[in-house]
Amino acid sequence: MDLPFEIEDVEKNLANELMQHYTGELSGFVRVGPKGYFLPQKYKGQASDIYNIPIRSDDVFVVTYPRSGTTWTQELVWLVKNDFDFQTAKTTPIAARFPYLEFSILVHPVYEQIMRDENKIDPQRLKIVNTAVLPSAEKVSKMPSPRFIKSHLPLSLLPPALLDTAKVVYVARDPRDAAVSHYHLSRLYRIQGAPKDFKTYWNYLIRGLHHFSPILEHVKEAWRLRNHPNLLFVFYEELSKDLPTVIRRISKFLGKSPTDEQVEKLCEHLSFNNFKDNSAVNEMLLGKIDFLNKGEAPFIRKGKVGGWRDYFDDEMMQQADRWLLENLTDTDLRFPSWDL
Ligand code: A3P
Repeated sequence: MDLPFEIEDVEKNLANELMQHYTGELSGFVRVGPKGYFLPQKYKGQASDIYNIPIRSDDVFVVTYPRSGTTWTQELVWLVKNDFDFQTAKTTPIAARFPYLEFSILVHPVYEQIMRDENKIDPQRLKIVNTAVLPSAEKVSKMPSPRFIKSHLPLSLLPPALLDTAKVVYVARDPRDAAVSHYHLSRLYRIQGAPKDFKTYWNYLIRGLHHFSPILEHVKEAWRLRNHPNLLFVFYEELSKDLPTVIRRISKFLGKSPTDEQVEKLCEHLSFNNFKDNSAVNEMLLGKIDFLNKGEAPFIRKGKVGGWRDYFDDEMMQQADRWLLENLTDTDLRFPSWDL
């Protein structure tokens, strides 16, 4: 199937400016479709294969803009669907149980080579490198059913049969919190990089100039489809406020009816403190091959609603209010923590 959207290179001067900050990218960026989704150059080579991935009826996808509570939701979904098999969950990395579809587009060929060179004498580590760079479609084609797949791509760039064939849980988070969180993750990832100060990053983000942005378009796409029977729309803030209710909602959506005891045990397993100490969800593949920048916040970081306030000065707060108002005029989407 041909792609129904255009992929355009980000103009050279702007790309060069951004690559000074996003140091993991060395070839530039693309903007995709009418909303101009911002992605690394490498996406171009995989766009069609991703769009044409055959979807299976028992697939379960968790789709989010990065740092919206993806891992938290993946673990919840996986455990509900796998009859609360905590043993396997604790001993098998989430990346193996619930892989990140398009991760390889983030690994620039030059960094791929550096990864290979740095890890060539250790077969275990080399295996991790090979997993990290496996093209998206190939990665999921080999998975046994039922497949659990994570993606940060907006729904419009995923296979068009997805919603009519499989189940999708979409998680959204107040963009200000997601931005702070993504800023930290970008600093942690050697394959990504971020400006030194959050303000510079934020100013790029509201122009849609960061991976998987524009964030509000990403969320609005899913919000518009929230009544589709195969899409469940969840807010990070709901998970944070009332986890048992969200567990029950997701269970019902997945055709499961957990007991009170199972829900209680799952809440315990998913609590921030337990999650933070759980190496199956908090240890990234890149950490295992020492490919993370030192001295940065860990993957499971603070887990707070509203932590963005510590990062915004008055000017940024007003700018954020205006940006949210302008971008939410064409929708009734409102974030639970929205206080305008
Ligand atoms: P912070 O950086 O604000 O702490 P994702 O999995 O989409 O990358 O999202 C990561 C964000 O979810 C991080 O936010 C992380 O700390 C938070 N998170 C992960 N597990 C959590 C949990 N069990 N409880 C609360 N927040 C959690």
